Amino acid sequence: MYDAGKIITGLLIGIGLVSFPFWYNQGKVAPPPELKMDTPVIQQMKEKQCIEPTPYMRANHMELIDSWRNAVVREGGRLYVASDGKKYLMSLSNTCLHCHSNKDKFCDRCHSYTGVSPACWSCHVVPKEMKG
Ligand code: HEC
Ligand code: HEC
Ligand code: HEC
Repeated sequence: MYDAGKIITGLLIGIGLVSFPFWYNQGKVAPPPELKMDTPVIQQMKEKQCIEPTPYMRANHMELIDSWRNAVVREGGRLYVASDGKKYLMSLSNTCLHCHSNKDKFCDRCHSYTGVSPACWSCHVVPKEMKG
């Protein structure tokens, strides 16, 4: 009646998925990769901070980008007002990658560590002069 092997495999996969946020957030078992945040633009900043507070960005940048895309594509919006009142152009290439110009040592490095590979760069430009 029941295939014990399949059930156990299913359970193990389930536990893996459920516990992902815990081992990802704690990062005690395998230390996270070193992220390079000293790009030329960031070096120039007096207060080195992201659009929103870092813990928020770490956990929610995908939702933020997604809401930008929806705002631009569906509503034609372009300006994002951050929680501290600063305004930013809603753009992956021109805003995120303006500061984080080292996509490969920042975005990509963390994504390959966490096993995600957002397929955005076939359409969205990685500014050439900023690569590396
Ligand atoms: C098939 C091509 C394509 C792919 C793949 C794609 N996009 Fe887009 N995206 C577009 C187009 C076209 C627009 C509209 C551009 C405009 O109006 O400025 C857009 C707009 C956006 C915007 C708002 C404006 C801007 O320039 O940033 C964001 C943010 C965005 N996409 C994020 C993403 C993310 C994140 C991914 C990957 C998960 C992605 N897109 C994958 C084509 C694509
Ligand atoms: C004005 C410059 C600037 C812009 C624009 C910017 N960032 Fe940041 N970002 C920073 C700085 C500086 C930090 C490091 C803050 C710190 O040291 O706590 C950072 C931190 C982060 C982190 C956290 C890294 C970690 O420590 O885990 C993520 C994720 C991130 N940014 C993603 C993005 C994304 C996605 C966008 C576009 C939606 C973006 N950033 C736009 C400057 C910027
Ligand atoms: C500190 C680690 C970290 C950094 C740095 C980081 N990301 Fe992510 N990103 C993640 C994780 C983890 C996910 C998957 C989250 C999930 O699936 O819920 C993700 C998911 C995404 C997604 C959604 C993927 C999809 O297919 O829906 C996009 C888009 C994205 N990141 C863009 C960026 C960009 C652009 C940068 C650099 C400016 C960046 N990220 C930097 C950890 C990071």
